[in-house]
Amino acid sequence: MVLELQNVSFTIDHTTILKNITGRFHKGKITTLVGPSGAGKTTLLKLCNNLLTPTSGTLYLDGQPFSEIEPTVLRREVGMALQAAPMINGSVYDNLQLPRKLANQSLSITEAEKFLHAVGLSSSLLQQVANDLSGGQRQRVSIARTLVNHSHVLLLDEITSALDRTAVSEIEQLITTLNQQHGVTIIWITHNLQQAIALSDNVWVMVDGELIATGEPTILTHPTNEVIRQFVEGALR
Ligand SMILES: Nc1ncnc2c1ncn2[C@@H]1O[C@H](COP(=O)(O)OP(=O)(O)OP(=O)(O)O)[C@@H](O)[C@H]1O
Ligand SMILES: [Mg+2]
Repeated sequence: MVLELQNVSFTIDHTTILKNITGRFHKGKITTLVGPSGAGKTTLLKLCNNLLTPTSGTLYLDGQPFSEIEPTVLRREVGMALQAAPMINGSVYDNLQLPRKLANQSLSITEAEKFLHAVGLSSSLLQQVANDLSGGQRQRVSIARTLVNHSHVLLLDEITSALDRTAVSEIEQLITTLNQQHGVTIIWITHNLQQAIALSDNVWVMVDGELIATGEPTILTHPTNEVIRQFVEGALR
């Protein structure tokens, strides 16, 4: 699915956090959002999931303005995973079933096992207390939960920041597989520029609420302007 922003601004408490952002997240591609802390990356991601509504401008999913899409449909189509991978109290199964429960449906054990396998976890974890899982396992369950919804777009906010190196590369591999084998459109905030360069088809560079550049990862390896160059140098230092 194509997610598009047109002249999107977001202001809260008289502070403009996002300034007139226009751009398109290409279908079936991995786009990473990079930029200094406070640039507005998380705010932009929340707009993409309708957790926030723009002050002005419009977001579109496959050409349809968000305002014309049923909120539950939008939430299902556009899944989100966060750094902390928050879990509800209960088992892994309870957590996987959550999206269905919210829609007054259920998830069979067999289906739940299938989703666990899809993220590389053993079905023996199904009845384990979710909050007892390791960071990497929690992140996988969090991603599996978005699969339960069959989301076509996945928003990821620094999902590997709290993980050790092995877990990071496992999660990177999982996201690449979801993208390549299931065609899921990925929008990924990362502060890890090596990760952005290695994994993305496209990069968005945000500074101070503005989208200052978009393009292939070469815009990071061969910056064409001073603002990007300074950001990249600082981030790689
Ligand atoms: N609800 C809010 N009320 C007021 N200011 C806010 C609110 N949410 C975010 N901000 C401000 O908006 C700016 C952008 O925040 P945002 O969380 O989107 O940045 P970010 O790029 O995700 O940063 P980081 O890399 O640190 O996660 C920050 O200056 C933040 O303080
Ligand atoms: Mg953030």
